[in-house]
Amino acid sequence: MDMHFDLRQQALHGAMPPLPKKPRPVVVIGAGSIVHDAHLPAYRKAGFPVAALVDANQERAASVAQKFAVPLATTSITEAISKSPQDSVFDVAVPAGAVLDVLPHLPDGSAVLIQKPMGNTLEEAEQILALSRKKGLTAAVNFQLRYAPVMLAAKRICDAGLLGEIHDMEVVVSVYMPWDLWTFLATAPRLEILYHSIHYVDLVRSWFGNPERVLAKTVRNPLTAKLAATKSVITLDYGEWKRVYIATNHGHQYQDSQQSYVQWEGTEGALRAVMGVNLDYPKGKPDSLSMAGRGEAWQTLQTEGNWFPDAFIGTMGSLQAYICGETNTLPTSVEDAIDTMRTVEAAYISSERDGVPLPR
Ligand SMILES: NC(=O)c1ccc[n+]([C@@H]2O[C@H](COP(=O)([O-])OP(=O)(O)OC[C@H]3O[C@@H](n4cnc5c(N)ncnc54)[C@H](O)[C@@H]3O)[C@@H](O)[C@H]2O)c1
Repeated sequence: MDMHFDLRQQALHGAMPPLPKKPRPVVVIGAGSIVHDAHLPAYRKAGFPVAALVDANQERAASVAQKFAVPLATTSITEAISKSPQDSVFDVAVPAGAVLDVLPHLPDGSAVLIQKPMGNTLEEAEQILALSRKKGLTAAVNFQLRYAPVMLAAKRICDAGLLGEIHDMEVVVSVYMPWDLWTFLATAPRLEILYHSIHYVDLVRSWFGNPERVLAKTVRNPLTAKLAATKSVITLDYGEWKRVYIATNHGHQYQDSQQSYVQWEGTEGALRAVMGVNLDYPKGKPDSLSMAGRGEAWQTLQTEGNWFPDAFIGTMGSLQAYICGETNTLPTSVEDAIDTMRTVEAAYISSERDGVPLPR
């Protein structure tokens, strides 16, 4: 093993999400597929106790609660609150349009993690922000990709200076997404950017902050003619010295050419993180991280865990560490998440409006 490889592997030590020393109980509202596939497996792995599971559908709540040994399953948020410890943290994982129905039921001053997107529109996001402030909630949005093990590792490597100055970041996703898993998306006017590229937009913001401008085009696929746009190209403008873009095609049915990765290029080296979950959603394939120094061959680095479910430990862990006073930042707070929603809104506006007709 060469010296460079050792240096990179060393830089990975400590690539951990923030975790509370003494986890508080979680009351989960919404017991749908993402809670079953990622939230509850992550909490089990991290040792976060789950006090209650609430869902509009009692049977669904009961069957998921039984599988994960959650002591209470109910359709009533009030009942879940009254029967759970007072210091419980809330985890709202209902469709975006239902978030504003749920939040008013939570006790003022409580801590809550809200599934992405933060509402279906920027207007709803602003209402969620205003309501969180009014109720004194410590509220964060579940933009968990930042906490995927390969993403934490990539950040550590970059912070250790091993990439030099980063001048390029690309997100390429060409996969087959089974959109029919989400019945509420069948009639959604906004699909790909709002429900999927939003993760990449948030990831890019976690690296470079807000872009100066957004240029985008999002289009529909004749093979899923009933759905809104499922393919997008989004350019995030960080000025003259950085190329940053997201290109997604969620209807690519050709196995051998499927791709799902984030790649960074710096003056000293390049990194590529593969997001396996998209390659066989929701079962997924493993994530991986590779690095090449300038002029060197690519080497795979040792990382442990995957976006699903490990990244979900990070968003809940960071909220709990913050309310316990163990960290002083809440990276995916609603105050930050609103800017991811503003970036998404800019992408939709650009898609409708931008572009230069050919000169005559
Ligand atoms: N990586 C991610 O972060 C990720 C991945 C998938 C889905 N999601 C998000 O998670 C949310 C839920 O997605 P899902 O895949 O679990 O959907 P789903 O349709 O499988 O589940 C939604 C559940 O919410 C329940 N519900 C709806 N309104 C409710 C209310 N007012 N009170 C209580 N329960 C209510 C429904 O009965 C259903 O069981 C969506 O906003 C989606 O965007 C995030």
